[in-house]
Amino acid sequence: MRAIAVTPGEAGSIHLEDVPKPSVGEVPEGRGVLVRVLRVGVDGTDKEINAAEYGAAPPGQDFLIIGHENFGVVEEVGPNVPDTIRPGTYVVASVRRPGSSIYGQIGLQDFTTDDFYYERGINLLHGYLTEHYVEDARFVFPLPANLREVGVLLEPTTVAEKGINHAYEIQRRLKVWEPRRACILGSGTIGLLMALAARLRGLELTVFSLPERPYRNADLVEELGGVYFSSQERTLAEVSAERGPFDLMMDATGFSPLVWEAAEVLGKNGVLVLSSITGGDRRVEIRSDAINQSFVLGNKVMVGTVNASPADFRSGVDDLIKAEALFPGWLAQLLTTPIQGLERYDQMIRALTEDRAAIKVYVEVNGS
Ligand code: BGC
Ligand code: ZN
Repeated sequence: MRAIAVTPGEAGSIHLEDVPKPSVGEVPEGRGVLVRVLRVGVDGTDKEINAAEYGAAPPGQDFLIIGHENFGVVEEVGPNVPDTIRPGTYVVASVRRPGSSIYGQIGLQDFTTDDFYYERGINLLHGYLTEHYVEDARFVFPLPANLREVGVLLEPTTVAEKGINHAYEIQRRLKVWEPRRACILGSGTIGLLMALAARLRGLELTVFSLPERPYRNADLVEELGGVYFSSQERTLAEVSAERGPFDLMMDATGFSPLVWEAAEVLGKNGVLVLSSITGGDRRVEIRSDAINQSFVLGNKVMVGTVNASPADFRSGVDDLIKAEALFPGWLAQLLTTPIQGLERYDQMIRALTEDRAAIKVYVEVNGS
C-alpha cells in the first residue's frame, strides 16, 4: 500500500513509499484494530518535518510515514477489543505512545519526562498518511457516525481540550473559580478550536490575532458569539481594557513575544495556557518587574500544554458533538482545503506552506 513519507534530516524529501499492509495480529493480546484511513489533516508540525527541522524515523529505518491528524473506519478487530469498536466504527487514534517514564505507564504519556518521545507520524513511529494502519485498541477512540464529515478535526481539538481541561483542573485550587471571560491568542485551526472549547464552556469570548478583516476566521469567531480583534488595529492591553480582565487566556499564535504581553494583562486569579511550539531563537525585552509583581499579587498561573490524554480525546468527541448541535456547519467551514489522494503530496505541501487563506489542509485517502 502507498504512504506519504519523508527522509528525516533531508529537507523537501517528501515522497510516496510502498509499504506492506499491516494486520491486526501485529498488536499483542488480541487488542489490534485494523483501520482504513479516510482523511488525514496536516499542520505546521508536518511542514517542519518536511523541512527537516523536526521528526525522526523509526529505529533502523530511513523513512518516516508522516501524518498524525487521522480519521478512519475500522475494518477488522482482534478478539480482545471492546465492543465500542467494531468493523464499520469511525475512529481516531491518538498520537503519543508510552516511553519509559511513569506517566506512560499510567496512560498519561502526554506528561512524559523522557528526553525523547514516541509520536506516530512525528517521532520514531510511522504515522497515518497511508491506506491502512493497525493500532492497539487502547489508543483508538470511537466517534459517532454523525461526525463523519468533521471527525478529522478531533486530534487538533484534543490539543485545545487538554489546555482548557487543565486550566479548570488547576483552578480547582481556588474552590470557587467561576471564569467569565476568555481570550484566545491566534486564529489558526488550534486558536479557532480553543475559541470553540471556551464558548462551549459558557465563556465570553475574545480572539486576538494578526490578520485584519475581511478575514474568514474572524467571521467564524463571530459565528460563535465571540469578538475578534486584529493586532494591527489594537494592542492586547487595549483589548483587555475593553473586553477583560480575562480569567482564561490561551495562546496558539506561534509568536512567543505575545506571551509576555498576555502575562501582563491576565486577570487576577487568572490562568494563561501556552501551546505554541516555537523552535526559533527569538528574544524580546519584557517588563519583568511588572509581570512578576502582577503574578505574585494576582495569584496568576502560566502553564504549558502539549499533546493530549485519553480524557481529552473523550471531551474532544463530546465537544465536536456539541458544536454540531449548537453551531451546525461551523466545524465543516474549517475544512477549507481538501487534497484528493495520497499521490498529490506535492499539492498538500504547497497548500500547507503557501495558501495563507487555508484553515485546515487535509488529504482524502482511499478516494473517500
Ligand atoms: C501534535 C501533537 C504533538 C506535538 C509535538 C503537534 O502538532 O498535534 O500531538 O504532541 O505536535 O510533537
Ligand atoms: Zn499537530
